Amino acid sequence: MPDLDKIVSLAKRRGFIFPSFEIYGGSAGFFDYGPHGLTLKNNVKQIWWKQFVSGREDVYGIDSVIVTKKEVFEASGHARGFADMLTECEKCQRRFRVDHLADTKKCPECGGKLGEARQFYMMLETHIGAAEDEASLAYLRPETAQGIFTNFKNIVDSFHPSLPFGIAQIGKAFRNEIAPRDFLFRLREIEQMEVEYFIKPGDWKESFEMWRKEMQKFIASLGIDTNKIFELEIEEADRAHYSKRTIDFEFDFPFGKKELYGLAYRTDYDLSAHEKASGADLRYTDPESGDKFIPHVIEPSLGIDRTILAILCSAYVEDELGKEKRVFLKLKPQIAPVKVAVFPLVSNKENIVSKARELYKNLKEKISGVAWDDNGNIGKRYRRQDEIGTPWCVTIDYQTLEDKTVTVRDRDTGEQIRKKEKELEKYFSDKLS
Ligand code: GAP
Repeated sequence: MPDLDKIVSLAKRRGFIFPSFEIYGGSAGFFDYGPHGLTLKNNVKQIWWKQFVSGREDVYGIDSVIVTKKEVFEASGHARGFADMLTECEKCQRRFRVDHLADTKKCPECGGKLGEARQFYMMLETHIGAAEDEASLAYLRPETAQGIFTNFKNIVDSFHPSLPFGIAQIGKAFRNEIAPRDFLFRLREIEQMEVEYFIKPGDWKESFEMWRKEMQKFIASLGIDTNKIFELEIEEADRAHYSKRTIDFEFDFPFGKKELYGLAYRTDYDLSAHEKASGADLRYTDPESGDKFIPHVIEPSLGIDRTILAILCSAYVEDELGKEKRVFLKLKPQIAPVKVAVFPLVSNKENIVSKARELYKNLKEKISGVAWDDNGNIGKRYRRQDEIGTPWCVTIDYQTLEDKTVTVRDRDTGEQIRKKEKELEKYFSDKLS
């Protein structure tokens, strides 16, 4: 099991993830993505979008706003129900989520007496317009799902889809977590990838199983260690207020087995609630029978930040190569931020550097994720590329000038082979397809 501190440190050192506003002391539950983290995240989002949206015929993508009128969350039940029980230590004043405590009377940090448990509402508030009063109160959405429900009628009116069909989006969500912790695991600003899949009520079991399989496929396609994935049936008492059935996909993180994703049967809870509160007709008309009814919903909900954490935990490897200890990220080439790094063997020989530059430029036009590296000696460059998970390094040397071949070094084995310059594009494209 990799040590979380080592992953956090590599992520910062190599430009994946930085604590937000660190020069001002940081703030718990907020992290920024650096250049490599952003590329990794974008690669994950693209794979998700292709599998869950653009690769299908029955899912429509949208991008709805983050700042949301309070009426939406009053109707959805979040304004009353999106809360955790909180308790505070009377001695050290630390705050804890009651459901995270083994002993609800004694402070786990200082042993002091814990106060009465009270509800803590987790939505972040803001105001729309100049007045900061109750009427202008708005929320930063705690899930992307509600922006989908409030657009249900628009999609039906514009596209006239037949059931079953889905509406999907990727976007930010905000939760004022009582105890943010464990790096990217419990954040206050997150990104989610969600589908609300609208169905006839009688079809829910079949659709639930279909999305369960899609989620399994997605997890495997990212190279997340499937031996560390566990599907957990959530008891009624622990399910969200809108759910009739939930499965959590848990991952065995260094700090324990915890929720990675959720798959829920949300029934007609949300659309019915929005119909009642808004007065809009949110029923679907069956084209054959003419029957009007509120569709039910299956929701695969995936957090991107936890995905990145599970990927880093799965990919982090410490081994020995050529009798030297090394650390590397065994990322799937498809998601690696850099796929191919191009090096000149030496950086002070004009003919080698210009040949390497030419080859780099050509490859970069054809393949996305090609980087240039001429910093330090070859050994240091390999170490650096290993740490960011670059699957292949190409070195241009004296022999290249004579016979137009280069060395290609494999990240996982350290093996080097000579390849013809003109075969490189196909060689890498085949491996990445
Ligand atoms: N729309 C349903 C929904 O939001 P959820 O179980 O509260 O359900 C879905 O959240 C996913 O969002 C989680 O499985 C997780 O991947 C991610 N997530 C939720 N809260 C998070 C947090 N505080 N930090 C990081 N990721 C979080």
